[in-house]
Amino acid sequence: MILVTGGAGFIGANFVLDWLSHSEEAVVNLDKLTYAGNQENLASLEDHPGHVFVQGDIADTALVTDLLARYRPRAVLNFAAESHVDRSIHGPETFIQTNIVGTFRLLEAVRAHWGGLQGGDKAAFRLLHVSTDEVYGSLSPTDPAFKETGRYEPNSPYSASKAASDHLVRAYHHTYGLPVVTTNCSNNYGPFHFPEKLIPLMVVNALAGKPLPVYGDGQQVRDWLYVKDHCSALRRVLEAGRLGETYNVGGWNEKPNLEIVHTVCGLLDELRPRSDGKPYATQITHVTDRPGHDRRYAIDASKIEQELGWRPAETFETGIRKTIQWYLDNPAWVANVQSGAYQHWVHKNYSARAA
Ligand code: NAD
Ligand code: DAU
Repeated sequence: MILVTGGAGFIGANFVLDWLSHSEEAVVNLDKLTYAGNQENLASLEDHPGHVFVQGDIADTALVTDLLARYRPRAVLNFAAESHVDRSIHGPETFIQTNIVGTFRLLEAVRAHWGGLQGGDKAAFRLLHVSTDEVYGSLSPTDPAFKETGRYEPNSPYSASKAASDHLVRAYHHTYGLPVVTTNCSNNYGPFHFPEKLIPLMVVNALAGKPLPVYGDGQQVRDWLYVKDHCSALRRVLEAGRLGETYNVGGWNEKPNLEIVHTVCGLLDELRPRSDGKPYATQITHVTDRPGHDRRYAIDASKIEQELGWRPAETFETGIRKTIQWYLDNPAWVANVQSGAYQHWVHKNYSARAA
């Protein structure tokens, strides 16, 4: 079996669902269930014999050690993290605790476990650390896309904490020989995306008749990847990635934020038109920019393509249509995640931003 951390969050839950639809191999899913963790994402696995859910913290060494001893996974995939840049600006401490201390404690527990394995089990064991393109910093419009050899220049508390975790993972390979692989992926979108992030926030606000808050001029560029393509990349890296290597994962799909928001509005106009017949784009409002906002990310994903034969299956056009349709088809999920805690966050992040 495999041990997944953070498997109740957006990408982790998609990964667990994707894994169990492709494999007979069971998953132990360790998740702290922070505000971002949601067991509803895993509701379809309720009676699945191949899914064991454990609520807990990656920084809890005794718990992780016990899970490793009890289930003897052949691999650990680390998705668990605080993942939202804006939250890291308002409160960086949890990012240091989970992304740095948590990853360190996980590495220590995994190192002890791996050290006790023998022969083929030891040789086959893997730790896959799931990271982000944000560790590379910000690009100018003419810079080439991020390559794995690029310098780390993280600019937010979130990206700095992820960069630190990547460095720890790397060091555990070089110092102790721990069999690790790291992936650095661009912006994901798709089902179960928590509506504090750009695309789902625009969908839920549009449908609720609320303003669509675009930070600054909206010309910041991100590379967007459909989440199921990220899952297939991770399966492939786990299967064939070279130990100690890092692999960039991306969609070859750079777009400015304002274009993304217009695309979301256009699809909603088609699939769920406003009752007054006006376009959703009339709800777009430019608001005060994110402090230290990175201007452009772009991923050169040619290494994973050349070495491992992976390319995304979805185009942005197909992926975003599926995504918008998923939100329209799942109003109960959307309503349930917009709890009191979510409303508190929306107030904190947006009330002081002048339009
Ligand atoms: P998310 O915030 O939706 O989910 C994170 C999950 O981790 C939640 O279920 C949460 O409960 C859990 N968690 C948090 N702290 C924990 C702890 N101490 N112990 C155990 N579980 C804990 O995040 P996501 O968007 O699914 O991102 C998953 C991973 O992928 C993160 O490491 C993130 O940095 C990385 N990543 C995300 C994106 C993206 O676009 N969302 C892109 C590239 C990389
Ligand atoms: O690049 C990968 C990263 O993508 C991941 O490592 C992070 O975990 C993930 O959250 C994401 O980070 P971003 O900061 O790029 O995602 P977010 O959805 O928060 O913002 C995307 C862009 O949209 C960014 O330029 C900020 C902008 N934005 C965001 C929100 C929430 C707005 O203009 N308005 C908003 O209300």
